[in-house]
Amino acid sequence: MIRTINFRLNESEYHVKVREEALALDWIRNEAGLKGTKEGCREGDCGACLVLLGGSAPRRDGAPDGAVEWRSVTSCTLAMGELDGKHLISIEGLASAGLTPVMEAMLDEGASQCGFCSPGFVLALTGFLVSGARVDPVEAMLAVEGNLCRCTGYGSIRRAAAKLAADFADLPASLAERLTVLAGRRVLPAGLAALMAEPPVAAISTDADSAGEAVVIGGGTDYFVRNPDPQPGLAPSFTYRGPEARSITRLERDGKRYVRLGPAVNATDFFGSAIVREAAPGIERHELDVASPPIRNRATLAGNVVNASPIADMTAMLMALGAELVLAGPKGERRIALERFFLGYKKVDLAAGESVAAIEFEAGWSRFAFEKASKRERLDIATVNCAVAVRMSADGSIADARYSAGGVAATPLRLTVAEAAMRGKRPSAALARELGAIAAGAGSPMSDVRGSSTYRVRLLERLAWAASCRLWPELKLEEELLA
Ligand SMILES: Cc1cc2nc3c(=O)[nH]c(=O)nc-3n(C[C@H](O)[C@H](O)[C@H](O)COP(=O)(O)OP(=O)(O)OC[C@H]3O[C@@H](n4cnc5c(N)ncnc54)[C@H](O)[C@@H]3O)c2cc1C
Ligand code: FES
Ligand code: FES
Repeated sequence: MIRTINFRLNESEYHVKVREEALALDWIRNEAGLKGTKEGCREGDCGACLVLLGGSAPRRDGAPDGAVEWRSVTSCTLAMGELDGKHLISIEGLASAGLTPVMEAMLDEGASQCGFCSPGFVLALTGFLVSGARVDPVEAMLAVEGNLCRCTGYGSIRRAAAKLAADFADLPASLAERLTVLAGRRVLPAGLAALMAEPPVAAISTDADSAGEAVVIGGGTDYFVRNPDPQPGLAPSFTYRGPEARSITRLERDGKRYVRLGPAVNATDFFGSAIVREAAPGIERHELDVASPPIRNRATLAGNVVNASPIADMTAMLMALGAELVLAGPKGERRIALERFFLGYKKVDLAAGESVAAIEFEAGWSRFAFEKASKRERLDIATVNCAVAVRMSADGSIADARYSAGGVAATPLRLTVAEAAMRGKRPSAALARELGAIAAGAGSPMSDVRGSSTYRVRLLERLAWAASCRLWPELKLEEELLA
């Protein structure tokens, strides 16, 4: 659909008619003529197309109203329709006043050879300094986990990241002060830094020119990987619109405590939320098991669920937390338990015009574990995964449990037999073995490039052992399991 939008790119304001579903990557390169934003994989994997996206931060966890937030995102999975009222920064915006210290560090350490990946690395590291994250070499390297380089090997990039971490270890906590310091030290051109501190430009949201095939788009990190050249004739509705879309709230129903996630809560929001961390202690350890920073900055939990991959990581986690979906459509609202939403391979119980309006899950879990085996340690999808949440009694027995597994059937599975086996028992190596055997017998996996059916069954058994060890580290179950 054609819509007129208002946004800022670097230091210029644009008021343009765009196809909403067109990709920002193509617009930046072909319409704005800024070729420093590179097209590599066109599927969110390489970071060559990375840009910084500024907008209003969601109102939560003490953030003041109207606060501005900056996140790194891949422009090959970002729709133009999303940019209304936002601010984008490409490499040209950083380079307008010459080489910045981030670029100099990359050059000094020999971290750029052909240079194709370099704009993405520079933006990721600059975004890291802007973000307010703890500045140390480990965090700096985590910030470039979504960037691939074919030429240099990563030693030189690691040295450049470490140099920056040492040089910028003392950045102030408040965004406005940090931007002033970064401008003073030439990381950002002064004019750009001043604009970055302001609330984004006003959105205009005019009526679209024509109707088309309705499609719901969240972060686009599955949708645009499947549809890398979205054709005209779509009528997208973006879940990221509206102040409630990224809200994470506590609620009480029938004497039970729940957490409610808005439809555009993304992985970064979810793992960073104090409410989520309190509801499922230990869940924050698993943020790095999911994708890369620019993907987590956009990938919504609702999109993860509706995409219905049997190995979706956040779906496995939500199922272990007892999640329910709140579906809204022309006939009103209905609720469905997450495990009942999946009808078959990539088939879900979603009627025409319905969308996920919220996800709710139980609070008050004592401990949480997630296990994932994949070919690469990071930035890879799972071969097999499993998740488990437990509520412990005062006497040390398990009062309640929820268990899920992925990659062993056409849909994500809830393992109710494992849950029943846990209730009322004390954790032990014998119980861990029993759960492993139950998990191994739960699915009927197929063989594919990620592993044979036999391998997946064996892997899930061992992941179930690992989950028990992670849940109760004080019992050192691994000593007995591996003896
Ligand atoms: C490089 C890369 C790495 C990845 N790594 C992982 C990983 O480690 N683990 C993992 O689980 N996934 C991974 N993914 C997959 C993807 O990021 C996730 O599945 C993500 O959560 C999808 O969310 P989204 O908001 O981007 O969905 P979108 O792409 O926007 O949408 C996905 C589907 O859901 C529908 N949809 C979205 N929101 C709604 C809604 N509210 N109501 C109804 N329908 C809706 C869309 O129409 C579409 O069919 C990766 C993807 C990439 C590109
Ligand atoms: S082109 Fe590779 S992440 Fe966008
Ligand atoms: S320098 Fe060539 S891809 Fe990184």
